[in-house]
Amino acid sequence: MNRIIAPSLLSADFGNLQKDIEMINQSEADWLHLDVMDGVFVPNISFGFPVIKAVKEICTKKLDAHLMIVEPDKYIERFADAGVYSLNVHFEACVHLHRTIQRIKKLGMKAAVTLNPHTPVSVLTDIVQDVDMVLLMSVNPGFGGQAFIENTYSKITDLKELIAKKDSKALIQIDGGVNNTNAKKLFEVGADSLVAGHYVFHSKDPLATIADLKKM
Ligand code: DX5
Ligand code: ZN
Repeated sequence: MNRIIAPSLLSADFGNLQKDIEMINQSEADWLHLDVMDGVFVPNISFGFPVIKAVKEICTKKLDAHLMIVEPDKYIERFADAGVYSLNVHFEACVHLHRTIQRIKKLGMKAAVTLNPHTPVSVLTDIVQDVDMVLLMSVNPGFGGQAFIENTYSKITDLKELIAKKDSKALIQIDGGVNNTNAKKLFEVGADSLVAGHYVFHSKDPLATIADLKKM
């Protein structure tokens, strides 16, 4: 079973990003999750290429970019140039998702698709075999520090069934409200990767918190 931990930069100290990224570098985290928000697809604006470029220069972990933006196709090349490892687009933001996924892969990145909490897993029936990862949102996207939506567990079960049926190799990532009360069960039900923002960066000892998540 995979246990890929991806702390979300959204909850880091933006006045002193270097310190938090050095902590991530020293930690047992596998990836650094980058939440890119445009104020249109979600009711919040986060950060863009200047910040990602600065992060890339000092971060030794793989960059896992989660695009909460409309028209993500406009920026695929720029994320490839920025050196991100995996590029994650929302199902709800892509009219031609198959084309988008092929372009991401052609540019050498892992291709992932995200579903909002209200979007059923069944919409992935004809694309799941083409993606490297599916992210199930366990909060409504836009903000860190929200409460975990319990229905996520049954969506993981549905997604695992679909992945098996379609002979897909897609990983399952969960994002939103992840902490020590749900991480163990999420892994048990079938998650391969957990994103955690508030729980990691607002804990007393982020290094220990990451190590604990990894061991759940
Ligand atoms: C929410 C983002 C998440 C968020 C997770 O829109 O996609 O990645 O940062 O934060 P927590 O772990 O604080 O819910
Ligand atoms: Zn995210």
